[in-house]
Amino acid sequence: MTSVSDAAAKRENVIIFDTTMRDGEQSPGASMSLDEKLELAKIMEEMGVDVIEAGFPIASNGDFEAVREVSKIVKESTIAGLCRAHTMDIDRCAEAIKPARRGRIHIVIATSPLHMKHKLQMEPGDVLDVIARTVGHARNLCDDIEWSAEDATRSEREFLRRAVETAIKAGATTINLPDTVGYTYPTEYADLFRYMVENVDGADRVIFSTHCHNDLGLAVANSLAGVQGGARQVECAINGLGERAGNAALEEIVMALRVRGDRLPYDTRIDTTHITRASRYVSAITGFPVQYNKAIVGKNAFSHESGIHQDGMLKNRETYEIMRPEDVGQAPSSLVMGKHSGRHAFRAKLKDLGYELGQNALNEAFGRFKDLADRKKHVYDDDIVALVDDALARGAERIRVKNLRVVAGTEGPQEAQLTVEIDGEERSASATGDGPVDAVFNAIHVVAPHGATLRLFQVHAVTEGTDAQAQVSVRLEEDGRIATGQAADTDTLTASAKAYVNALNNLFARKEKTRPDPAIASGF
Ligand code: KIV
Ligand code: ZN
Repeated sequence: MTSVSDAAAKRENVIIFDTTMRDGEQSPGASMSLDEKLELAKIMEEMGVDVIEAGFPIASNGDFEAVREVSKIVKESTIAGLCRAHTMDIDRCAEAIKPARRGRIHIVIATSPLHMKHKLQMEPGDVLDVIARTVGHARNLCDDIEWSAEDATRSEREFLRRAVETAIKAGATTINLPDTVGYTYPTEYADLFRYMVENVDGADRVIFSTHCHNDLGLAVANSLAGVQGGARQVECAINGLGERAGNAALEEIVMALRVRGDRLPYDTRIDTTHITRASRYVSAITGFPVQYNKAIVGKNAFSHESGIHQDGMLKNRETYEIMRPEDVGQAPSSLVMGKHSGRHAFRAKLKDLGYELGQNALNEAFGRFKDLADRKKHVYDDDIVALVDDALARGAERIRVKNLRVVAGTEGPQEAQLTVEIDGEERSASATGDGPVDAVFNAIHVVAPHGATLRLFQVHAVTEGTDAQAQVSVRLEEDGRIATGQAADTDTLTASAKAYVNALNNLFARKEKTRPDPAIASGF
């Protein structure tokens, strides 16, 4: 008979490769600032992500800088940078990951007939030559080389096998077979890995990896099937962020492996209690809301509304719960503290919520908490999360909102009187608008003239009740550059002004960096 410890000993590890900052950032509108990427990298490292793909270094100076700065601060996770199969991409990537304790060069080239003919305009034999040359070049610069066959699931199997063998022979250590267009289905994808593991010369020397897009809603199912077929690395993104319909969601992959360990006997290194925080942070910095009924991290993922379900839950949670909210860090939002709570209790509360702030950040957050407690009867965990994330989202601020008064009501025009500080100098203006939010944004335009267009304005209540904080996300676009901003406040109009100004600050910061070369950023 097999004992429990025998079974546990047989469990294999699956490497979690997160691509939120690379493939995730390729979703239109989901760009992140350097500070946001650094904070996200810290969250991922604490969560136990094995490989963090921090960007595509050749695409822009901003991407290069992000990969290099993430490489400097992360110690536990491997830092990967993406490259096309070009020597200059690979050299740039090697430079970016140089400070990393563990760095990886990730090279991609397409292998499907469609992509080779129309996109690369190359003969299959030439593609094999390029693979051998570029992987070999990269291997001279770094010991950890991932090679990806773009559009692998629409590639001819025999050619794909030869391409994989070529990459292994040239020194690749991980072989990724992406379902680039979200076309495959689970049994087919599992079969592809089984075939490669059994037929590729040198398969035993590499880790096979999945990378699934969600065009048919199958990304997670396909990734898990890939693991059953022999893959031991899964590429995924927090909240399923990614090109078009997104990538396989990290939180769903990890929890499926954990909850269904009977069928999927694989472990990950992820500390699942960090999942909710990571999800909220990615949603806040990208301005992409998490749908209420999203698996694992949706607001309703652990809510039980019907009487029958509530009755069952009271008798035994397992009647309707296959995992506990606390397993994913979604503790029930509890009443925390009031205005008499001290700094010590506040620091302990932050720690419970997964935040370890330095002294200055703690003092700042505590001051804001006291202000909030003065204005709001009950301060909940979610209020504290919004308050701290709001502060983290604000990096270097050229513009700061100092004062706002708004005249609103049934009789227009609504009017906003605003005072801001720009590079240390106070400026005031009034403006009218079609509604109070429009008036506020017009006033910002007067004090800080800019050419950006508002692409998204979104408000949600952090908790229940009329004194709830409003969390506002704003997305602005100027000349193809996109920046998001967010802010939380019990006054919706103040939160709106601060979120807009936060987006402007991020846009200004981004302007100082070189724009990505569209030819590079749009294809491999
Ligand atoms: O979807 C894809 O093929 C990719 C590769 C770069 C891995 O994102
Ligand atoms: Zn992808």
